[in-house]
Amino acid sequence: MAVNPLNPSPVSLAPLPAGPLSARDVMRDAPVIPVIVLHDPAQAVPLARALVAGGIRMLEVTLRTPQALACIEAIAREVPEAVAGAGTVRSAADARAAAAAGARFMVSPGYTQAVGRAARDLGLALLPGVATGSEIMAAQDDGFAELKFFPALQAGGAAMLKAWQGPFGEVRFCPTGGVHAGNAAELLALQNVACVGGSWLTPADALASGDWARISRLAAEASALARG
Ligand code: 3PG
Repeated sequence: MAVNPLNPSPVSLAPLPAGPLSARDVMRDAPVIPVIVLHDPAQAVPLARALVAGGIRMLEVTLRTPQALACIEAIAREVPEAVAGAGTVRSAADARAAAAAGARFMVSPGYTQAVGRAARDLGLALLPGVATGSEIMAAQDDGFAELKFFPALQAGGAAMLKAWQGPFGEVRFCPTGGVHAGNAAELLALQNVACVGGSWLTPADALASGDWARISRLAAEASALARG
């Protein structure tokens, strides 16, 4: 697929559902959710356009840098084809700040009831992070059935996901952590995997040099991955 980061083609992407997004909407939109670490708000808009040009518009900007909220704000304001989301949401205060910045979904590295309640109060989709059966059950108790499996490769990878298909057959996962172009297909082939997450679409050196064409290529490759 030919892509031009200076002239993204949102027409090639299906229209988003009207109104608030569900976690299912977020996970089904593309095979990969990019996990993004930004230190410079000036990079946020060209990066978002480059990812959209490659067919990836659900963008998880992690709340790990002092500039993260400003980056979410810039994407929400200036790149309507993209959907800005917040990652590394660890508290209700993080969730409120993300919503105020314009995030339309949230991803957390673990699950607490406080984060779950905040997401519901704010009307924002949440992909809670889980790594054990007990954590899955706690998230399910609170009504969450679309979950991030984190850190996926370190915590058991595809074998763990296969083991969860029995007791947690209705749950859909977004494995994240150690996922890359070389192992994403194996994970995406599993029936309980809706999408994967990872930082490989936004290499630090490409961000630093403003190599948006490379990021668009990586996004285009990612958006072409098959799902099971
Ligand atoms: C994270 O939260 O840092 C993600 O899991 C990304 O992990 P990765 O860098 O291994 O893709």
